[in-house]
Amino acid sequence: MDLNTIGVIGCGLMGSGIAEVCARAGYRVVVREINEDLLQKGLGRIQKSLGKAVSRGKISQEQADQTLARIQGTLELADFADCDLVIEAAVENMDLKKEIFAELDHILPSHSILASNTSSLCITEMASVTSRGDKILGIHFFNPVPVMPLIEFVRTILTSDETMATVHGFGASLGKTMVTAKDTPGFIVNRLLIPYLLQAAQIYEDGLATREDIDTAIKLGLAHPMGPLTLLDFVGLDTTLFIADAMYDEYKDPRYAAPPLLRRMVLAGHLGRKSGKGFYDYR
Ligand code: CAA
Ligand code: NAD
Repeated sequence: MDLNTIGVIGCGLMGSGIAEVCARAGYRVVVREINEDLLQKGLGRIQKSLGKAVSRGKISQEQADQTLARIQGTLELADFADCDLVIEAAVENMDLKKEIFAELDHILPSHSILASNTSSLCITEMASVTSRGDKILGIHFFNPVPVMPLIEFVRTILTSDETMATVHGFGASLGKTMVTAKDTPGFIVNRLLIPYLLQAAQIYEDGLATREDIDTAIKLGLAHPMGPLTLLDFVGLDTTLFIADAMYDEYKDPRYAAPPLLRRMVLAGHLGRKSGKGFYDYR
């Protein structure tokens, strides 16, 4: 199936990146936020990222302008009526995602594919509120979307071969490398990443070492681009906590139990880079 118009739900950290890479690949993009303020903030993030790409000589100013012109911001789900593929990137909450999936199932044409960028939640449960289980899957991008070369597809027992073939063509058109996982909490990457991040927060809480030494040890000892506490701030402490709680809820495995400090930081509004404060200060 040919894809022309891509819908993106949410223009936060991930939704803005997904909208940007789709528009850069030549698709028309419709992106929805819940209020004008958040929409303008998200579109501003795309503009800034494109500006950076221009200043680094990756694209011309003309290409950046054409990319932006392909993106339509909206507050209305009704504007998704001609989308061939919708990627949901709202917050990591099952009730919210099911509500969005059920509404979109009524709005979208019957051929359209509906995907979630969820980090951990059950795709089959999202499919259960729609009448198009064969066209539902997880399309999991990585942060920052324009830079990270991977897409993790999450296939349920309902997802059809035709849907998989279409999204493989889509992923290739974005220049991404693709892997496929079964619909289990955390899929491949977060099944491994989340216990590691939680353990880093735990050893920091235990006073094993300073935050700088924990990060330096992993950066230089394992050649990771970021230490775990910097990565926690980058992903968002709220998002990490949502993911950990969802995975703990399904597996009941202490490896996915969030340390008390992480929960308290989120309650205090210390969400990482996006709020200006997390394990480090960004203000
Ligand atoms: N948007 C667009 N481009 C960006 C960007 C952004 N937000 N951030 C960085 N870049 C680009 C820069 O323009 C630069 O490009 P060139 O080298 O081609 O000019 C390149 O990325 C490197 O950037 P910098 O030199 O500014 O910074 P850096 O070398 O420190 O790299 C980083 C930044 C790419 C973010 C790197 O630190 C990194 O890879 N960190 C780890 C990220 C990671 O692990 N992500 C996965 C998170 S987990 C997840 O996503 C799954 C989940 O479900 C939670
Ligand atoms: P975020 O908090 O930066 O953005 C989420 C956005 O969704 C917010 O701006 C919010 O206003 C918006 N939103 C909420 N309800 C909405 C609705 N009904 N319609 C439209 N927009 C709505 O979060 P994020 O980091 O972008 O995460 C989004 C999704 O991507 C989550 O499922 C998360 O698990 C997943 N994810 C996150 C990362 C990461 O590193 N942060 C990586 C991969 C996947």
